Amino acid sequence: MATKVGVRTIPLLDLTRQYQPLREPIQAALTSVIESQRFILGAGVEHFEQRFAAYCGARFAIGCASGTDALELALMALDIGPGDEVLTVPFTFFATAGAIMSTGARPVFVDVEPGSFNLDVQQLENVLAQHPRIQAILPVHLYGGCADMGPIMDRAAARGIPVIEDAAQAVGAEWRGQRAGNIGNVGCFSFFPTKNLGGFGDGGMLTTNDEELARKLKALRIHGSFEKYVHQWPGMNSRLDALQAAVLDIKLDHLNDWNRARQHNAALYREALRDVVMAPAMPPHQTNHVFNQFVIRCQRRDELRAFLAEAGVGTEIYYPLPLHLQPALASYGYKAGDFPVSEQLAKEVLALPIFAELAEDEIAAVAGLIHEFYQRG
Ligand SMILES: Cc1ncc(COP(=O)(O)O)c(C=O)c1O
Repeated sequence: MATKVGVRTIPLLDLTRQYQPLREPIQAALTSVIESQRFILGAGVEHFEQRFAAYCGARFAIGCASGTDALELALMALDIGPGDEVLTVPFTFFATAGAIMSTGARPVFVDVEPGSFNLDVQQLENVLAQHPRIQAILPVHLYGGCADMGPIMDRAAARGIPVIEDAAQAVGAEWRGQRAGNIGNVGCFSFFPTKNLGGFGDGGMLTTNDEELARKLKALRIHGSFEKYVHQWPGMNSRLDALQAAVLDIKLDHLNDWNRARQHNAALYREALRDVVMAPAMPPHQTNHVFNQFVIRCQRRDELRAFLAEAGVGTEIYYPLPLHLQPALASYGYKAGDFPVSEQLAKEVLALPIFAELAEDEIAAVAGLIHEFYQRG
């Protein structure tokens, strides 16, 4: 039996703690949109797009309906389609590969690096050489830590292909001082409520410094149209709505503080869990990990998870089945053993509560339980 953490449980994420102090300004902003009865795009969305672009250091930001749509729009804008291959990692949320497949292109994988969980740049050259049809590289900044963009950008430039960053989990993260999403040709963000900058529903954003690409993305999100009722491409119907933009605009003011609080929490875990489990490695390029998740690697993971659940601590497994082994990709013929690091991580990773408002005694309680579990053997 695990020792209970007390009457209060410690959930993986408690968004009510973020909402309570912002309740009044958020409700006022939502009321103002409702009173205007203008819900799709409009001045509020444009205002937020500009502020988001500035936050990332990008020239342009284009709102859309989700992170998944952002990825699909980016691929479409770069003319990726049937017959093409896109290089990404198998250890990520399904949407990364799902978006590639939605365009008709085929996802090709390079395994991840076991310490940072991100694309293993050592394997990049080899995989690119084996796949002449690769037309884009789509690195993922997993859990809020940046993939090593230097070698990725160099290899892409040598091949003459674009880089699309999946920055869904990494708003505010930095690779050698450069913000995630503003290093490749286009960055894709998610405002799913659990993200560091989360809306009151689905939402997404694209960032780019390329004016032509920005113009095309703006058209693609409204059925491929630059001019009302004239359509250049099928595109999509994917807009950031004004209610989401109003909420996100208020939350953006707090994002850096929240990211710093997550970093503080991660440092506390790291210290408290030294010698017990493996915390994520921090390679030198990782100048601002924003800990959308704090993920440990551990032995007897499922038993530990059950033990923590019994004590009232919420955890999650991101992700239990790598993409190459997903039923949706069965027709590509990947098999177990193809990407051994991803497969091993899928058995060992466990995300602990890390949200900004978590109290220090809660972190100590979670760490104490983990020690208790391994001491019992
Ligand atoms: C790495 C990654 N890519 C893409 C997405 C898709 O974002 P959304 O849920 O907003 O469609 C997510 C989030 O769920 C994600 O974590």
